[in-house]
Amino acid sequence: MKREQIIEKLALYGQEHLLRYEDELSEKEKEAFYQQIMDTDFDLLKKLGQKEEEKKERNIEGLDCLEADAIKAKEDIYRNKGLDAIRNGKVGAVLLAGGQGTRLGFDHSKGMFNVGINKTLYIFEQLIRNLMDVTDVAKAYVPFYIMCSDKNVDEITAFFKEHDNFGYPGDYISFFVQEMAPSCDYNGKIYLEEKGKLSLSPNGNGGWFSSFAKAGLLDDAKGRGVEWLNVFAIDNVLQRIADPVFVGAVIEEDYVSGGKVVRKANENERVGNLCLEDGKPQIVEYYEMTPELLSMRKPNGDLVFNFGVILNYLFRIDKLVDIINTEIPVHVVEKKIPYLDDKGELVKPEKINGYKFETLVLDMVHLMDDCLPYEVIREKEFAPIKNPTGVDSVESARELMKLNGIEL
Ligand code: UTP
Repeated sequence: MKREQIIEKLALYGQEHLLRYEDELSEKEKEAFYQQIMDTDFDLLKKLGQKEEEKKERNIEGLDCLEADAIKAKEDIYRNKGLDAIRNGKVGAVLLAGGQGTRLGFDHSKGMFNVGINKTLYIFEQLIRNLMDVTDVAKAYVPFYIMCSDKNVDEITAFFKEHDNFGYPGDYISFFVQEMAPSCDYNGKIYLEEKGKLSLSPNGNGGWFSSFAKAGLLDDAKGRGVEWLNVFAIDNVLQRIADPVFVGAVIEEDYVSGGKVVRKANENERVGNLCLEDGKPQIVEYYEMTPELLSMRKPNGDLVFNFGVILNYLFRIDKLVDIINTEIPVHVVEKKIPYLDDKGELVKPEKINGYKFETLVLDMVHLMDDCLPYEVIREKEFAPIKNPTGVDSVESARELMKLNGIEL
């Protein structure tokens, strides 16, 4: 690769500082570094200037939720429909495990975190158990796809191997790798993580379907007859996976997608609200909504925006295929980013020190014709592990797990 090309690209984006340790690199390292620079999408840096545009006026309305009472009334119908779909191989599950879990401060994939107290219980293990609660009843396996990143794919695959997939059959487990994006400081300068390596991090969970397809797994899923994909986060240890009642409800009520939601603790709870925007389903974050909107009530006194999403969605595959090339917004998020300082030493910052660029699975919902908000009971299905202590933490999740009879 020509060095001039590299110089040209760096100059175009004001990133010449990245070559400051070039002289210390071997020829082989230089070649790999140049390749990385050419392969990385620097256009993302343009998003920094556009941050403010997100605050424009929006046309947001409430979206009726399938509430717990209504689900109870038709539970048997939904369950049978969902179990039928599972038995006929129509349901696959996608675990989003590409994140870095910086808030938890655990140096490996979050799935390798041991949430047990008196015994070992890894998050991956718990999730497989949750899935097997369903497959044991259905007496059929659900293809289980795990999205990793370049940073954790080796350790995750090795971990599953070492633990015999926690009892799940290997023929039904596939791993795939998501794409990466650069991280930069507050002046838009990309960080280095080594003298010949850009600081790259997973580009958010919104690219999961295109990475899934690129890895050949769309063909795999179609080949197996999968029609629906249940996508969910790694950190909710009470996550119900391929939940037959949820799957059955979305099919029976004739939707092309669904999202599990919990009743908000109060109108200002910091969650994403599953709403309608310009007549299409949309997830709007609490900070994007005015106090007037958040406090709006229906004639029966309920909040109009009464439910928050928990990152558990069901999508019909043919609809995902329709939107595979449609762009979704890139979010600029502030994070703690390890970087090389002026002396060339690696610093692991205590505080947030720059930006990463992420697309989010929740933005795919807006591209669907409809999305069924499906209420689940928070104490039974929502115990996210984001932080070591406090809200949404190892501590709070352990309490909820115990309440649900899980031995720790
Ligand atoms: P989070 O928003 O909690 O991000 O991800 P995170 O990176 O795991 O954690 P923090 O914010 O650094 O503490 C929600 C879900 O999306 C996945 C995560 O693994 C988690 O299941 N995710 C996130 C990806 O698969 N890829 C990404 O690039 C980001």
